[in-house]
Amino acid sequence: MADNVKLELGGKTSEYPVLSGTVGPDVVDIRKLYAATGAFTYDPGFTSTASCQSAITYIDGDEGVLLHRGYPIDQLAEQSSFMEVSYLLLNGQLPSAKELEDFTYTISRHTMLHEQLATFYRGFRRDAHPMAIMCGVVGALSAFYHDSTDINDPKQRMIASHRLIAKMPTIAAMAYKYSVGQPFLYPKNDLSYTGNFLRMTFGVPAEEYEIDPVIESAMDKIFILHADHEQNASTSTVRLAGSSGANPFACIAAGIACLWGPAHGGANEAALNMLREIGTPDRIPEYIARAKNKDDPFRLMGFGHRVYKNFDPRAKVLGKAATEVLDKLGINDPVLDTARELEQIALKDQYFIDKKLYPNVDFYSGVILSAIGFPTTMFTVLFALARTVGWVAQWNEMISDPEQKIGRPRQLYTGAANRDYVPVSQR
Ligand code: SDX
Repeated sequence: MADNVKLELGGKTSEYPVLSGTVGPDVVDIRKLYAATGAFTYDPGFTSTASCQSAITYIDGDEGVLLHRGYPIDQLAEQSSFMEVSYLLLNGQLPSAKELEDFTYTISRHTMLHEQLATFYRGFRRDAHPMAIMCGVVGALSAFYHDSTDINDPKQRMIASHRLIAKMPTIAAMAYKYSVGQPFLYPKNDLSYTGNFLRMTFGVPAEEYEIDPVIESAMDKIFILHADHEQNASTSTVRLAGSSGANPFACIAAGIACLWGPAHGGANEAALNMLREIGTPDRIPEYIARAKNKDDPFRLMGFGHRVYKNFDPRAKVLGKAATEVLDKLGINDPVLDTARELEQIALKDQYFIDKKLYPNVDFYSGVILSAIGFPTTMFTVLFALARTVGWVAQWNEMISDPEQKIGRPRQLYTGAANRDYVPVSQR
């Protein structure tokens, strides 16, 4: 690629450097474009815009590749653990056995919530969507953990990061318990991160909770597959909120709010609801037709992606895991058959081929989560729980990036030109 590009605009020529990363598309550094030309670039939805430099995650959408600090997602899903991937995302290298033990010890000792936070739940209706509760409770954390809100102190940033990673399972489990009218369970430090979450969610004070290793392993794999994903909408929200100097708890609450949208993390709940609405494979053609109909806002939930124009590698792992987990649990869920049939039909349909629409991370995850026992309203909560480590890793990278400043995009103004006020008596 050339080192510079030239732009002819308004009779003037300006030049811009071309920057190359380790791998992936080069970027044209246009930071001086407005000063040189008086014009802005225009890119709603940021389809061709790199918002930052990052060394955390790399996606090759055409090849269906996802790397976390260089390690392929399928290898991490098969061989690593969510605690180890969390360390990797935060620190850039796989931990030694001692480093992993120390990190896991630190996280497990931040899993308890300030006792007064439990009263926040009582302010919600029992049928409140748990994502509404997550937005509220996570945003409120900054009222309780003042000693880790100074974003310029790397030590405080790391404590806040550990607190967020550690407390999300407790907050998520409490949201579920509140919705079913059962008492909250406290975390237990002798359990794994994921086992602790399963016990706080499905355990009851009346008896010991048996952690099923099949479910623990499937849940841990699901957390790994949802941990980070470059500059997606919610991560960009966290970065933008963080660029103003907002405290980390408020930034993560903003990320949770963005993730909730059905075009983003809310798609896992929407995808399972869609598969259940389709019901049987004979009704699939009707829904495929609706997805292709420009006048119908219906989209195939769990399909398509801004970056992947090939299989989402996470969907491949989850598609396999769905069969394994349901077989091991002895569950025969017709929704899985419908999902497989829908995938086959869609991938052979010219519309989906032309638009390069493949199953994404949200297409199969709901089938597994439902088999484990989660209601669909908890699916995006689980996505937020896992993505918190990606959000805090990206937030830390942004804060320590010397090139970062407050995010403040411009616009193409199409409103009224300057005009004088008209008193109401003359309108
Ligand atoms: C996640 O960014 C990330 O990395 C996100 C994520 C992460 O880990 O953070 O991967 C998680 O959010 C996965 C995506 C989950 N969302 C869904 O499954 C919802 C359904 N999918 C779509 O809404 C859509 O595919 C998006 C939002 C995911 C991507 O939208 P884009 O990139 O803006 O693409 P687009 O809407 O411009 O679609 C291109 C064309 C359009 O047709 P035309 O206007 O060109 O004629 O494809 C069509 C769309 O109508 N299309 C679909 C479709 N997705 C796109 N048509 C039917 N069904 C779909 N699912």
